[in-house]
Amino acid sequence: MKTIGVLTSGGDAPGMNAAVRSVVRTAISLGINVKGIRRGYSGLIEGDVIDLDLRSVSNVIQYGGTFLYSARCPEFKTEEGINAAVESCKKLGIEGIVVIGGDGSFRGARDLSLKGIPCVGIPATIDNDISSTEYCIGFDTAMNTVVDLVDKLRDTANSHDRCSVVEVMGRGAGHLALQTGIAVGATAIMVSEVPMKVEEVIERIKDTQKNAKKHFIIIVAESVGNTEGISKQIQDATGIETRTTILGHIQRGGNPTVRDRVYATRMGYAAVQLLNEGIGNRVIAIKKDEIVDYDIYEALNMKKPFDIDVYNVANITSI
Ligand code: ADP
Ligand code: F6P
Repeated sequence: MKTIGVLTSGGDAPGMNAAVRSVVRTAISLGINVKGIRRGYSGLIEGDVIDLDLRSVSNVIQYGGTFLYSARCPEFKTEEGINAAVESCKKLGIEGIVVIGGDGSFRGARDLSLKGIPCVGIPATIDNDISSTEYCIGFDTAMNTVVDLVDKLRDTANSHDRCSVVEVMGRGAGHLALQTGIAVGATAIMVSEVPMKVEEVIERIKDTQKNAKKHFIIIVAESVGNTEGISKQIQDATGIETRTTILGHIQRGGNPTVRDRVYATRMGYAAVQLLNEGIGNRVIAIKKDEIVDYDIYEALNMKKPFDIDVYNVANITSI
C-alpha cells in the first residue's frame, strides 16, 4: 500500500491521539503515506482529509480527545453512504483505513472492507464494552477520573454523614461502574447486568449503619437509569441526607494514563502491520495482555461476559 487513512469515530476516548500518532509513525517507517480523515465517516464521505507527516503527530500523545475530531454519521449506515465513501477513497488514493472507535465504527469498517477498502479497527471507548477485546483504549483513564472525582465526593459525604449517589457512564454496560465502585469502596454498585432493587441497597445501608458506618457511596451505572429517583428512595427510607451526582462527559476527557498511551501505541503499530500485508476486515484486540486480531464479523458476534466474580467480591468487601 502506498497510502492509508486513519479516522476516529463514535464517542471520543483518551488515548485516541496516541493511537493516531502510532499509526502515522509506523506507516511512515514502512514507507506508507498517511491521510488523517476528520470527523470519522462523515469526513471520509466529504473528503475532509489532511496529510499527516511525522511532525504532525508531535505533542499529541499526552492529550485526551481526538485532534482528528470524531462524529456519528448516520449516512454511513446506508448503501449510498458506503458507496460515497468508497468513491472518496478512490479519489484520494486511500487504499486502506485504520478505524479507531467502538463496535458501531467496526460495523462501518466491515462494510467498507466488503466494498474493497481493507480496514482494521482499534478498540477505543471508555465503556470497555467491545465484545472482542478485554481492554479498550480510554477505559483506564476514565476509571481514574471517576475514582478521583468520587474520592472528592467522599470528603464531603463524610463531613456531613451523607449518602452520595453517583451515576457513571458506560452506555449499556456496567464495567466502568464495577471497577470504580470497588476502587472507591462503594457500599453498593448498581449495574443492569445484575439487577438489584433499591430496597436491597437500602438494606445494605441499614446493615452497615449497624456497624457504625455513617457515610455511604452508591455507584449507579447509567444503564440502570433513574438515579435521582434512587437517591430519593434512599433518603425517604433511611432518613440519611442523600445527594445525587451525575458525572457526565467529564469522564471522557483528560490526559490519557500510561496504560492507555501504551496500549494505543501498541495497537496502532499492530493495525498498520496488517494493512501493510494487505490484510483488512480485522480488529485489534487484547487477550491476556497480548495483542491479537480477529475477523470483524467474528469479533462483532463475540459476547463479553460481565465479571460476576469481581462483582461478588465487591459485595462482600463493602459491608
Ligand atoms: P461506536 O463506534 O463508539 O460504537 P457508534 O455506534 O455511534 O459509536 O458508531 C459510530 C459510527 O459508525 C456511526 O455514526 C456510523 O457512521 C458507523 N456505524 C455504526 N453502525 C453501523 C452499521 N451498522 N453499519 C455501518 N456503519 C455503522
Ligand atoms: O460510548 C461512550 C459514551 O460516553 C457512553 O458512556 C455514553 O452513554 C455515551 O457515549 C454518551 O454519548 P454522547 O457523547 O452522544 O452524549
